[in-house]
Amino acid sequence: MRATARAHANIALVKYWGKRDEALHLPMNGSLSLTLDALYTTTKVTFEPALSEDRFVLDGQPAREADRAKVSAFLDRVRALANTRVRATVESANHVPTAAGLASSASAFAALAAASTRALGLSLDDEALSRLARVGSGSACRSIYGGFAEWRRGARADGLDSFAVPLASAEHWDLRMVVAVLEAGPKAVSSREGMRRTVASSVFYPGWLAGVEADLADARAAIAARDLDALGRVAEANALKMHATTLGATPPFTYWRGQTLVLLQAVAELRARGVGAYATIDAGPNVKVLCAPADLPTVQAALAAVSGVERLIVCAPGPGVTLLEDA
Ligand code: PMV
Repeated sequence: MRATARAHANIALVKYWGKRDEALHLPMNGSLSLTLDALYTTTKVTFEPALSEDRFVLDGQPAREADRAKVSAFLDRVRALANTRVRATVESANHVPTAAGLASSASAFAALAAASTRALGLSLDDEALSRLARVGSGSACRSIYGGFAEWRRGARADGLDSFAVPLASAEHWDLRMVVAVLEAGPKAVSSREGMRRTVASSVFYPGWLAGVEADLADARAAIAARDLDALGRVAEANALKMHATTLGATPPFTYWRGQTLVLLQAVAELRARGVGAYATIDAGPNVKVLCAPADLPTVQAALAAVSGVERLIVCAPGPGVTLLEDA
């Protein structure tokens, strides 16, 4: 009745942006990501017959009621699979600044999916686990895998064909992704609200959708060929297109701060100096920079020189979700 799992965050190189079904987290478009070694969540789930409701302890503190309710709703799905009503205590430790656009929900729900199903004696294959994690948070379906993963959009209304598949393991390609953290605080517009508003009202949303399939094909080919410039170019362009959609929404919004743009300029200047560095940005102000291991010191120095950068987190390709021996 107890199990512990660890899952790593992933950063999309072709973004998930927009839902066609809000309850099941079915995406408007396919996406592709890199799982990162340095950012992860460890979650222990203990089902206890004596409990009258689920408990959620996050980083040693009782979680906010809204988060507890999300975890509890997710566990309801797992309980339905196992045909039980037993409540659980969920203890999570996040090695990811929560809700700062660093995809903490991805590692969180991937770890919760793996630990809760194992605790109830269910053995799901990766595809089923990915589908289940997706219902917790869309991007979580990609964190089942290490290295590069692609979330297939699917077409069915029940979501059975919407899950992630592995593209290449962490060992396939030694890369670095440097996360330049501008703000660790929670974001003003959640990814859920940002997607909803953009899909419903952005004049640029059709343009976003029109380019995704080509971006996915280019990214897949670049990964297979280990072509950093090709992958970086498509990833940066894809992120900028995603963020452009927010400016065309009603009311318009942006996840960027002034220093986000300064960081993008620093990355462009690195390239002008011949350094292969490419940026991506999620639903927050932070900038993540892809580069080769040999260029890491140069990239770190350039990003650290930008005012307002609180810290740099250096990541390499990381592993997929794993069950841990119970402590
Ligand atoms: O899964 P969510 O609701 O955390 O949405 C993630 C959205 C982006 O980070 C902006 C893009 C992505 O594909 O991860």
